[in-house]
Amino acid sequence: MQYVKFDHANEKVSAIGVGTWKLGKNPKAELQALRYAISNGVNFIDTAEMYGTEGLVGSAIEGTDRKSLFIATKVSPHNFHYSDVMRACEASLSRLGTDYIDLYQLHWPNHSIPISETMSAMEKLADEGKIKHIGVSNFSVGELQEAQAAMKEHKIVSNQVEYSVFVRSIEKEGLPEYCRKNDIAIIAYSPLARGLISKDSDSKISEALESIAKKHKVSAAQVALNWLVSKGNVIPIPKASSTEHMKENVASTEFTLDASDIAEIDGTANRRRPIGGVFRPLLKKNAAWSRIMTKMNSKNAKTNGAEIGEK
Ligand SMILES: NC(=O)c1ccc[n+]([C@@H]2O[C@H](COP(=O)([O-])OP(=O)(O)OC[C@H]3O[C@@H](n4cnc5c(N)ncnc54)[C@H](OP(=O)(O)O)[C@@H]3O)[C@@H](O)[C@H]2O)c1
Repeated sequence: MQYVKFDHANEKVSAIGVGTWKLGKNPKAELQALRYAISNGVNFIDTAEMYGTEGLVGSAIEGTDRKSLFIATKVSPHNFHYSDVMRACEASLSRLGTDYIDLYQLHWPNHSIPISETMSAMEKLADEGKIKHIGVSNFSVGELQEAQAAMKEHKIVSNQVEYSVFVRSIEKEGLPEYCRKNDIAIIAYSPLARGLISKDSDSKISEALESIAKKHKVSAAQVALNWLVSKGNVIPIPKASSTEHMKENVASTEFTLDASDIAEIDGTANRRRPIGGVFRPLLKKNAAWSRIMTKMNSKNAKTNGAEIGEK
């Protein structure tokens, strides 16, 4: 496994992390996959209070040297008032079974709550040592600047956004350049385009991926992950329910793409909309959806056993 320096945060993080959204349907197999990743060098695991998978992550990391791990979770936007952030963090710590979170992220912007109030809670948590680093997710350049300006002492170390060979809208708004210039890591979510990577077979980008994969004797998914890593300050967090997929993802930095491969993928014109599509501005204005999803997933986690894991 390759490791990257996590920009401002002086941390060594695996070049490939793992995502956990929608896990919980088959906790035994998923735990096995997560533990495979950890024992093969992945130290970066991403979850969120909204996913209902913090308990599963807690089970996966039980017995592992805590200091070797980089655990990231997120506070849901309906919890962005000061006291709610504090409460949400305590609940996440308890579900994860840990006394600190390496990276605590604002899951989506919430324009109905002053960002200064939310950031002051995040800074307090950092000062208390409950969280080591502060990150955001789904923030535009303007939202990032506003959030940073609202902080007194700490720095935003990362922005988690949708980024894959299929979804490249962050490039249009200049987010990668801004993050590179300001030492902000990009955590690429849905790096396999939510599974589209193995379903879409007739687009230009799929053709390019297949031919590059054939040349390097790897899979199209591995090419897609390697392309993201080749950007330098991008850490993809693919989600895999099976050990088979996890193995493939963990091994995706074991080869080097040629400059011509990277140029070919860069040049393909297949562009899809990110999660939320045209409703993204609306989702940032009103966080009602966040309350519903967080509740729904925590209920599912209890019924499908994810919160219990093997405990
Ligand atoms: N911050 C945000 O707002 C936000 C939003 C979305 C996602 N995320 C984070 O990003 C993570 C990843 O995104 P995602 O789950 O949306 O999508 P993804 O990682 O792009 O794709 C997951 C899909 O790809 C399949 N897959 C995994 N490895 C594969 C391989 N080697 N070959 C072929 N298919 C493979 C998975 O199948 P199996 O499950 O069957 O293995 C699953 O269907 C999430 O889990 C979450 O942690 C964050």
